[in-house]
Amino acid sequence: MVLTGKRILLIIGGGIAAYKVLILIRRLRDSGATVRCILTKSGAEFVTPLSVSALSEQPVYQELFSLTDEAEMGHIRLSREADLVVVAPATANLMARAAQGLADDLATTCLLASSAPLMLAPAMNGYMWAHPATQANVAQLAERGAQIVGPDAGDLACGEVSLGRLAEPEAILAAIVERLAPTAMPLAGKRILVTAGPTREALDPVRYVSNHSSGKQGFAIAEALATLGAQVALVAGPVNLATPPGVDRVDIESADDMLAACRAALPVDAAICAAAVADWKAEIAPQKMKKSGDGLPVITWQQNPDILATLSQGAQRPGLVVGFAAETQTVIAHAQAKRARKGCDWILANDVSAERGVFGGDANQVHLIDGEGVETWPQLSKTEVAARLAERVAAALSAT
Ligand code: C5P
Repeated sequence: MVLTGKRILLIIGGGIAAYKVLILIRRLRDSGATVRCILTKSGAEFVTPLSVSALSEQPVYQELFSLTDEAEMGHIRLSREADLVVVAPATANLMARAAQGLADDLATTCLLASSAPLMLAPAMNGYMWAHPATQANVAQLAERGAQIVGPDAGDLACGEVSLGRLAEPEAILAAIVERLAPTAMPLAGKRILVTAGPTREALDPVRYVSNHSSGKQGFAIAEALATLGAQVALVAGPVNLATPPGVDRVDIESADDMLAACRAALPVDAAICAAAVADWKAEIAPQKMKKSGDGLPVITWQQNPDILATLSQGAQRPGLVVGFAAETQTVIAHAQAKRARKGCDWILANDVSAERGVFGGDANQVHLIDGEGVETWPQLSKTEVAARLAERVAAALSAT
């Protein structure tokens, strides 16, 4: 509830992305904020006042000259009683009118009457966004202190693929939290690399060897770090998981690909290697290996690069490097030896013997091993392990 006591005036412009703002309202309420919404005339073409008021648990304000609204909450109070004004989606038209200082509807009048900080989340067709008129308006609003969140690149409702998508609700929420409750975002401005999932090592064009890693722990860590404000680069092996909100994900298959993607993400402030990287790679047969009588195929194995050990060395070594040790016996002793061997700062050691059900499961029991000693955490869900680790990373990075 990082936004408890914070009051947000949310102006919903007219664009197809307005539906995403309903999710934003939900997230803001979950974070403890009070959300008052102004729905512009064109905004009401895309989402209904009923949805907005149901989610915000407040009346929705739509008219500049409304006796009901004025009796309840005049537009001056509406603009003054806010810690932050957020416009999402901020359309080209709404931003043009705001830049000009027009006050021809409730939204623009409140923008003019407000002294609260302003955040704009633009969404529009890519050509409209790139147009010099829009760019000039955005630049002018930014110069006057407005914070611009997004737009993102990707598929647009008009069928084009370009810059113009509304930033994801989670990214807008993160920007709001960073603005209103900066201490809740101790990792703001930090770049963190996370590896997750298995790697897949090809034997021939159709076969591979891999392992049972689900990627759940690494993905949970990426999400927990992003929640604390970090810019997270997640390098993921083949897994069946959704990308956590606000995380930049690169999908790879082999250990060699994973190392290349990790190198491309440098420099970073911290690296968390949660991937279950295959120790060996095969010399890949150029064609599908054939069954021939009783003969077994001959596979020549080579050592894979050790990504954790590689990241722990060199000029671009992150300030904090964390590895995992999945062990089935003498967990702590093996993990301590691994920490020394790989040159990382911390090792999170866990017992993955079959009876523990860690692989693919939701629970994890880990020991944090650093230069000082061993800290044993209670049995926690993977999400809780991730949250704890993210807090520890934040504390370590703020101490440096
Ligand atoms: O040596 P072992 O595989 O047990 O070490 C586990 C730790 O090392 C994990 O953090 C894992 O992500 C990392 N690792 C790696 N590259 C490898 C093997 C392991 O980054 N080739």
